[in-house]
Amino acid sequence: MTAEQQQAEALTNTNRDEAVIAVDHVSMTFSGHDAAQSVHALDDISLDIRKGEFVCLLGPSGCGKSTLLSIIGGLAQPTAGSVAISGATIDRPRPRDVAFVFQESTLLPWYTVLENFRLALKFQGLADARWRERAMHALSVVGMEQFANHYPRQLSGGMKQRINLARGLCVETEVLLLDEPFASLDEQTRMVLGEDLSILLARTGKTIVFVTHSLAEAVFLADRIIVMTARPGRIKASISVPQPHPRSPDFMLTSEFGAIRNDLYALLRDEIRATVARMREARDARG
Ligand SMILES: Nc1ncnc2c1ncn2[C@@H]1O[C@H](COP(=O)(O)OP(=O)(O)OP(=O)(O)O)[C@@H](O)[C@H]1O
Ligand SMILES: [Mg+2]
Repeated sequence: MTAEQQQAEALTNTNRDEAVIAVDHVSMTFSGHDAAQSVHALDDISLDIRKGEFVCLLGPSGCGKSTLLSIIGGLAQPTAGSVAISGATIDRPRPRDVAFVFQESTLLPWYTVLENFRLALKFQGLADARWRERAMHALSVVGMEQFANHYPRQLSGGMKQRINLARGLCVETEVLLLDEPFASLDEQTRMVLGEDLSILLARTGKTIVFVTHSLAEAVFLADRIIVMTARPGRIKASISVPQPHPRSPDFMLTSEFGAIRNDLYALLRDEIRATVARMREARDARG
């Protein structure tokens, strides 16, 4: 292990006993038809996440953020290392403990919003007498309760994404994993949703891992930002944002906010250059 890796590990390991999510020396290689096609996506990632912590993963495209999230959620198995949630090793999806929210709205078009929620709750084994109450509560958190009986086609992109978020909330898991949930939205809607999420975090105490490409979104939302290197993804730095939730949009106007965002940009710049250079090489090799 290099001195840099040791430092990154020291930075990202909190007290093991407090960790709700413990990622322990995780590596991932996707095998292809031959060695040339195999992809080394993640390299020796160790990261402990405390209960109620909001952690953002930031890194260049293809550095393994979604892969890491899938491994934490038990949707994929690492080639080395392991993940534990509340002390239990993750070797399969655990819908009662972990909820996912993806970038694309995954609402089924032939069901109303409420029916979509009922289905999600059914999958998690939570379609009990309280299902409607859970669903309506989650919708009210994102200000969408009046759309419970609408169909997805009757909603705007931003509304659908709010509802996607609410569906992740209604399953009442301790851990929420979000993969670029606001990526397809305009800047203003993202800001409003970011504020909602900050308020929600303060209220529910969920443990959240959030993938984003937006530096401002990461600083606004995260208690801690994990900056990853270009592929194979390693942890390059761990940056704390010592600002309590709920955060007000005014936080974005402070010099502290600007300073952290600038630090992040400096950390990412070289990694983004490395990614772009690799893409050019691949393009030139194809001729
Ligand atoms: N199922 C898979 N099979 C083969 N290769 C994969 C698979 N999933 C991801 N990869 C490869 O692993 C690498 C990391 O992918 P991943 O989707 O985790 O990146 P990412 O950081 O989420 O990127 P982006 O920011 O563009 O979403 C990429 O090179 C990708 O091609
Ligand atoms: Mg991704």
